[in-house]
Amino acid sequence: MNATTVNREPRTVNELPLETRATPARVLVADDERSIRELLAIVLKREGYEALLAENGRMAIAALQRGPVDLLVSDIKMPDMTGIEVLRTAKAIDASLPAIMMTAFASQETAIEALRLGACDYVIKPFDVDELKVKIREKLENRRLRQENVLLKRALGSSHQFHDMIGRSAPMIEVFHLIETIARTTSTVLVTGESGTGKELVARAIHFHSLRRDRPFVAVNCGALTETLLESELFGHLRGSFTGAEANKKGLIEAAERGTIFLDEIGEMSPMMQVKLLRVLQERKFRRVGGVDEIEADIRVIAATNRDLSQMVEEGRFREDLFYRINVIPVKLPALRERPEDIALLASHFLAKYTAQMGKSITNLSQEASELLQRYEWPGNIRELENAVERAVALEGTPVVLPESLPQHIRAGLSRQKPQPMMLPDSGFDLEEHVQSIERDYIAQALKRAGGVQVRAAELLGMSFRSFRYYAKKYNLR
Ligand SMILES: Nc1ncnc2c1ncn2[C@@H]1O[C@H](COP(=O)(O)OP(=O)(O)OP(=O)(O)O)[C@@H](O)[C@H]1O
Ligand SMILES: [Mg+2]
Repeated sequence: MNATTVNREPRTVNELPLETRATPARVLVADDERSIRELLAIVLKREGYEALLAENGRMAIAALQRGPVDLLVSDIKMPDMTGIEVLRTAKAIDASLPAIMMTAFASQETAIEALRLGACDYVIKPFDVDELKVKIREKLENRRLRQENVLLKRALGSSHQFHDMIGRSAPMIEVFHLIETIARTTSTVLVTGESGTGKELVARAIHFHSLRRDRPFVAVNCGALTETLLESELFGHLRGSFTGAEANKKGLIEAAERGTIFLDEIGEMSPMMQVKLLRVLQERKFRRVGGVDEIEADIRVIAATNRDLSQMVEEGRFREDLFYRINVIPVKLPALRERPEDIALLASHFLAKYTAQMGKSITNLSQEASELLQRYEWPGNIRELENAVERAVALEGTPVVLPESLPQHIRAGLSRQKPQPMMLPDSGFDLEEHVQSIERDYIAQALKRAGGVQVRAAELLGMSFRSFRYYAKKYNLR
């Protein structure tokens, strides 16, 4: 794997787009007065929006029918068709379209009628350009947030998918909600979790849901580079600052300007680099290697590790001050074995992915293969599951995945887990005590696997929450 990747494809810093924007919002202006149309066209363009101009009601409606519009700004009094009629038609096309009506002082009552029809605001002519600008921005921002919410609900509701992440278990739904909340902030985030649990996916999801989504997402693997290389990669360097530095080079922090930098395997950072990173986080400034000028860093930092950083702090291997700077918002990803409900969902997702990729027509996992996947402990988490399914798809010659196509150690699970034959010892034994010890064992195991969530532990043992609570209490387990 590459040590540094930018967005989806690895690219070098110099190829990074300096300015990338999402498609601008489209604002339709309807007014028979040419000077107003021209004024608004200038204002809207300067704000970064696309302006569509219509000099009468008919043209406005034609524009609405031609393609999606994000906001309607319409005069009320126009010769052929009133703004009210335009509004009514616009709402029939797109009921959620926000509209700002413009009216002369004399016809304020019509403006109120417009509000009743679903316009969200009005301005009185002659209007204050700044006031109108604020209103436009507000309506568009509102619409964007609402659309995102709809998308999120759809994503979570139907396919158990959020961004590129699959999951329907309670802890994963919680992670999805957390990502959504975090995306609205610019705070530093620390993503922890075992290897292969999806830490990088979480970092990307945060970036691509944030206001920085149109700026670069730059990933750096701190464990894959030597101290010197990491320093020059992150901060850039000036020509001649060390042997081999033949030209000035921008660092990844600059490349991530106004975007997000993902510091993967942060626990591997050397003490010297820890100090340098601390300074960037504290002062939001840094120097290129060999340089004297201070450069401002407007970056959002997301760090990830599969190590226990707080323990590393205790052992003196990770700076405490840096730990607190990074651990502003912690996101802990559960191991796959703690969310067994997701295994089948993920397996069919990967099955579909790899059958399509390899042009095979495997439709399902066999019952037995599916059970094996459920029972296995998945020390390598989702990455291991993905690899196992990919391999199975490649090997499978029948329309369903049979256990034979799964790796040996996963297949071995089945025989290992077969119930042991029960033998009554010659001397006899206390059955009740034995049964209780088995009960206690399963209750404890289920609790552990369910991450302490009793409802889920109960599910694992096929019992009601009430019964589970009874047993947990009986054996003094929490
Ligand atoms: N919830 C998920 N849904 C679908 N695919 C996932 C999910 N989580 C992880 N993956 C996939 O599993 C693989 C590992 O994910 P990722 O690289 O994000 O893990 P990681 O926690 O960063 O691992 P490591 O600590 O080893 O770097 C990737 O191919 C990723 O696409
Ligand atoms: Mg990773």
